[in-house]
Amino acid sequence: MERKEFLALVGTSIAAITIGSCLDACKKNNNNTPTQPTVDFTLDLNSSSNAALNTNGGYLYNSGVIVARTLSGAYIAVSQACTHQGTTVVYQSNNNNFYCSSHGSVFSSSGGVTTGPASSSLKQYTCTLSGTSLHVKG
Ligand code: FES
Repeated sequence: MERKEFLALVGTSIAAITIGSCLDACKKNNNNTPTQPTVDFTLDLNSSSNAALNTNGGYLYNSGVIVARTLSGAYIAVSQACTHQGTTVVYQSNNNNFYCSSHGSVFSSSGGVTTGPASSSLKQYTCTLSGTSLHVKG
């Protein structure tokens, strides 16, 4: 490999690493916590892609939000990115809470922190059911 080719290859690699780091940083706000999106969308519960919400305990992700159906049949939604370092949380129907597997943070069904290391809440969204359409907004 020629010196010129080597330098070009190294330069490309460094650029790729730098761009990747910048993109990752842009996902977070100044407090180094993930941003919590403002959303306004409607899920058609007759659609197969939303079928998880037809079962108590089911959940899905849409537009940065985790939408869940509790064991009692209520719909709840919070931002999906853990406020600690951004890992996607899961819904635990038996405990009716949200859990982050990276470092063990737990959030209540309304997004409040119940177990750290996360120190700030997940954003809560309103869910309004009209027929078979679930409107999520916040
Ligand atoms: S990223 Fe969720 S607890 Fe650390």
